[in-house]
Amino acid sequence: MWQGDVHSSRFLRAPCPVVYLMPDPMTSSFVEIRQAMPSDLKAWAGMRHALWPTTAAAAHEAELRQQAGSKLFIGFMALQDGAPVGFAEVFVRPFANGCDSRPVPFLEGIWVDPAFRRQGIARKLVNACEDWARGRGFREIGSDTEVSNGASLEAHGAWGFKETERVVYFRKTLD
Ligand SMILES: CC(C)(COP(=O)(O)OP(=O)(O)OC[C@H]1O[C@@H](n2cnc3c(N)ncnc32)[C@H](O)[C@@H]1OP(=O)(O)O)[C@@H](O)C(=O)NCCC(=O)NCCS
Repeated sequence: MWQGDVHSSRFLRAPCPVVYLMPDPMTSSFVEIRQAMPSDLKAWAGMRHALWPTTAAAAHEAELRQQAGSKLFIGFMALQDGAPVGFAEVFVRPFANGCDSRPVPFLEGIWVDPAFRRQGIARKLVNACEDWARGRGFREIGSDTEVSNGASLEAHGAWGFKETERVVYFRKTLD
């Protein structure tokens, strides 16, 4: 699975696949949340491209392949009747702004197909990330988003995240 470098014995625990089945009362179809598998690579990369469009889908796919086997990285997929409609991924960072513990799991990305938003799918993906982190002994999880991303800010609050700090990035060309 998507797990690798061992920094601590807690990463050695066997991966426990997290599966949630969520019935949609309108359609009686099911949303499945489960760990990403090698067969998800293309779809996962495509969804990553939708979230981070400045990187080509092929480059996302290559990056995901590099992460294969990392114990510090995990991805979860949301599937509607077997078709991917969202993903979330966590990387265990050495440290993260606003978090107390080091290392600390960090919600690096989360995306749900616009047609499936406001149905609680991202919340389920976040729950799966939390369960994964909890199962490895972590007691907090960090995340970030752009200040202009109102939906994400609202959603983070709804998922139980507390805002810790705001940061402005700068850049200066060195001639
Ligand atoms: C942010 C995102 C992942 C939320 O996905 P989602 O599946 O719609 O989220 P949920 O259904 O779990 O929403 C849970 C709660 O978050 C809040 N929320 C979610 N989207 C919201 C929006 N557009 N406006 C206001 N509140 C919102 C609501 O309180 C919602 O509960 P409710 O629907 O019962 O009111 C989705 O909008 C998305 O993919 N956006 C583009 C990518 C992105 O910005 N990712 C985050 C930064 S990496």
